[in-house]
Amino acid sequence: MIKIINLHASIEGKPILKGLTLTVNPGEIHAIMGPNGAGKSTLAKVLAGHPAYEVTQGQVLFNGQDILELDPEERAHLGLFMSFQYPVEIAGVSNVQFLHTALNANRKARNEAPLSLEEFDILLAEKMKLMEIKPEFKERNLNEGFSGGEKKRNEILQMAVLAPKFAILDETDSGLDIDAMRIVANGVNQLMTPETEIILITHYQRLLDYIKPNFVHVMMDGKIVQSGGPELALELESKGYDWLIESPQGAAE
Ligand SMILES: Nc1ncnc2c1ncn2[C@@H]1O[C@H](COP(=O)(O)OP(=O)(O)OP(=O)(O)O)[C@@H](O)[C@H]1O
Ligand SMILES: [Mg+2]
Repeated sequence: MIKIINLHASIEGKPILKGLTLTVNPGEIHAIMGPNGAGKSTLAKVLAGHPAYEVTQGQVLFNGQDILELDPEERAHLGLFMSFQYPVEIAGVSNVQFLHTALNANRKARNEAPLSLEEFDILLAEKMKLMEIKPEFKERNLNEGFSGGEKKRNEILQMAVLAPKFAILDETDSGLDIDAMRIVANGVNQLMTPETEIILITHYQRLLDYIKPNFVHVMMDGKIVQSGGPELALELESKGYDWLIESPQGAAE
């Protein structure tokens, strides 16, 4: 279970997250929507442990443990996974090297034996097939020269290989063609287990036709101002965000 309690965070002295509270239970998918600049990506980066962000107040408990004390690697070892709106390119490191290293680091932290390259290859081939990723992408440098949609698909491949307990996916749907969106959604759905917890950041209700969230939240100015079920996404699609500003007293905590 991930419990975000009254989280405040700043970048370069400017407050961005202003008291965000959210609990995600095992087996739940929560969608976060909200206008540009609301702080959605900031939340993903703070949870990942990005050093540029300063947490000024609040707690993030993952199964009772305060993860804000941990460095990004230690968070990954606990089973946290973050995808980013703008994935980084890493020259000189192939996709297969990166994933093999990342998986074995997680396994080591869990006292599990490392997978040999041969064992890993079998796992990777299976996951690449699931994500309909061409074999040549194995040897390509991480995200280097990948198209926008290829990067997004590759991130879900990373998620499929690492099989995290908690994942926050930041605009995984942005820039995907219709087929790719279905493949990515299918990948996410297949990774969902009764133990998995997912936060899905998206601008469009469309993705939620493929990945069914248990809850939809609206984030504005650094906090959650409204929560509901999947119908809230449909309401936002037709009404936009302005009506929420006019009636903040109806807001969720
Ligand atoms: N280095 C920085 N210095 C100053 N402000 C910053 C910095 N980085 C981010 N911000 C500001 O933080 C706010 C929140 O940004 P964030 O990327 O979290 O928004 P978002 O909700 O993900 O928006 P979008 O829907 O456009 O992706 C924005 O106003 C942004 O300009
Ligand atoms: Mg963003």
